[in-house]
Amino acid sequence: MVAKKQKRDLLSITDLGTDLLPIIRHAGRLKAARGRGVNRSHLRGKNVAMIFEKPSTRTRTSFEVGLHDLGAHALYMSPKDMQLGRGETIADTARVLSRFVDGIVYRAFRHQDEAELAKWASVPVINALDDREHPCQVVADLFTLSERWKGKYSGHRLAWVGDGNNVHHSLILGCAMVGLDLMSATPNGYHPDPTIVSQAQTLAQKSGARLDFYTEPAAAVKGADAVYTDVWVSMGEEAEQTAREKAFAGFQVNAGLLALAKPGALVMHDLPAHRGLEITDDVIDGPQSIVWDQAENRLHAQKAILEELVG
Ligand code: CP
Ligand code: NVA
Repeated sequence: MVAKKQKRDLLSITDLGTDLLPIIRHAGRLKAARGRGVNRSHLRGKNVAMIFEKPSTRTRTSFEVGLHDLGAHALYMSPKDMQLGRGETIADTARVLSRFVDGIVYRAFRHQDEAELAKWASVPVINALDDREHPCQVVADLFTLSERWKGKYSGHRLAWVGDGNNVHHSLILGCAMVGLDLMSATPNGYHPDPTIVSQAQTLAQKSGARLDFYTEPAAAVKGADAVYTDVWVSMGEEAEQTAREKAFAGFQVNAGLLALAKPGALVMHDLPAHRGLEITDDVIDGPQSIVWDQAENRLHAQKAILEELVG
């Protein structure tokens, strides 16, 4: 009898381990193949459920299109249309869905729900964003930078300006894994989770990445090769809007701040952007912005992830 292959989840970007760089390289091959009209049906006959507790434009579209490209079927499910929304447990939902599908993509409010689904599902669970991490986003972001920097991370410096949030957490860990220096500026009260920072520091010792943390945007951006920001108010934090806008005043990525980075430094945002708050129109629409490449690369990066985990 052949032993059953252990299922593999992607809850944190660290779950990709040493496969992170090969996945990024594979995303590049998939992107080139799609441009040439090459059809890869590596997931033919597979079904993947996609549970979204929060809205999504990029993640939902890129997973649906990516699964179709790979020959698989995507089922979009909103908890309000599922028994999950009427009190069926996550564990029971996981056990039932596992009898039908080959993988579950899950966008959750709470990381503990993400972990609960993964615990009870016998098929791979892929985190499509929760309150702790957004791993698929950061795989695409690292792919986008590798396209610009010809696959070389070391010797480059990325700056993060804004909230110590889910995207920031995956970025800290991802940079530590690939050996990319990351200078972060977050205001007091909005720093990244110390457990993520210490996990990243351990990974950075191995990769050689430098991880520095500041409270002044200028300190992080000075000499940077790329500057990354995200919304000040993440989904689920709407009640904190006023307090957050006050705390993040001074953390706007605008022409003045960008002038402190290296000439021609790249500008990144995972989107959706709140123009006029965390980033100005001239910067996000300017020649240094790579935000549309980041968005497109979600498709190629997720196809590479799906082939690895669900294939
Ligand atoms: N960046 C991102 O995940 O966008 P969506 O919320 O539109 O999926
Ligand atoms: N930090 C943002 C990312 C959106 C893709 C949020 O969680 O809403």
